[in-house]
Amino acid sequence: MSKTLKKYNIEAEELEKSYKLPEIVQQRNQTINKLSVKLGEQILDVGCGVGLLSYEIAKRIGDSGKLFGIDINLDMIRHANKRCKNLRNTKFSEANADNLPFKKEFFDAVCCTQVLLYVNDVPNVLREIKRILKPKGRIIIVETDWRGVVINSNYDSITSRIFSAWDATVPSPNLPVYLGPFLLNSGFCNIDVEAIPILNTEYTSSQFSHGMMKWISRNAVKKSAITREQSEIWLDDLDEKGKSGNYFFCVNRFLFSAKLS
Ligand SMILES: C[S@@+](CC[C@H](N)C(=O)[O-])C[C@H]1O[C@@H](n2cnc3c(N)ncnc32)[C@H](O)[C@@H]1O
Repeated sequence: MSKTLKKYNIEAEELEKSYKLPEIVQQRNQTINKLSVKLGEQILDVGCGVGLLSYEIAKRIGDSGKLFGIDINLDMIRHANKRCKNLRNTKFSEANADNLPFKKEFFDAVCCTQVLLYVNDVPNVLREIKRILKPKGRIIIVETDWRGVVINSNYDSITSRIFSAWDATVPSPNLPVYLGPFLLNSGFCNIDVEAIPILNTEYTSSQFSHGMMKWISRNAVKKSAITREQSEIWLDDLDEKGKSGNYFFCVNRFLFSAKLS
């Protein structure tokens, strides 16, 4: 696995589980609607992960279209290939978003969901995307404002250390706040933003935040921001809140769409 992915520790198996949960299915549907794909289009999924969005797009563009997916993690590419093995209009390859292996003005649309927070130079990736888009080409981006998490916990100080550790782990934890100007400065127009709240008032494995809170507190232990014992205390409290009907978690994701003139 590449250094970047070791650093963020995103695993294909984890993504397979968490990105099939209802909140993320709903996010994917909203993204696909916004992309409004047409038969015969050439579309690129940057940071395609296990290919869940790619698969939905490929079904909609038909055999005259083509869905390309790239990801920095070969294991993700393997999962995406397996998912789309019965579709003849997909092609997945290992590549980095900051150096896209495609010629200029090749794609009708590009989507990039939950990827740019991991990227060091977002304007450079936007320039790359602009290069490979045809005139009037569309871009769709989904990102999370990780600084805006609302969570009910008895341990505010541990909560704050856990989220500060996550904040320091990724280059752009609150990218939505300044993504609009980045898009504008990169030559995109007609910028539109929709909020996608992820709201959980229950704490079971069917809710997105259940796995995410375990993952994010594990990250804080790894970064020595909290001890293993503090992580357990914090997670036990969330469990207790779930059982007593007092669990509350919310974070906003944002769906950006824009186009070239
Ligand atoms: C949270 S997952 C999202 C996957 C997919 N876009 C989705 O929404 O289902 C983030 C993905 O971005 C990929 N990624 C991170 N940095 C990347 C980069 N610089 N270039 C390409 N892919 C990258 C990771 O390997 C991972 O598969």
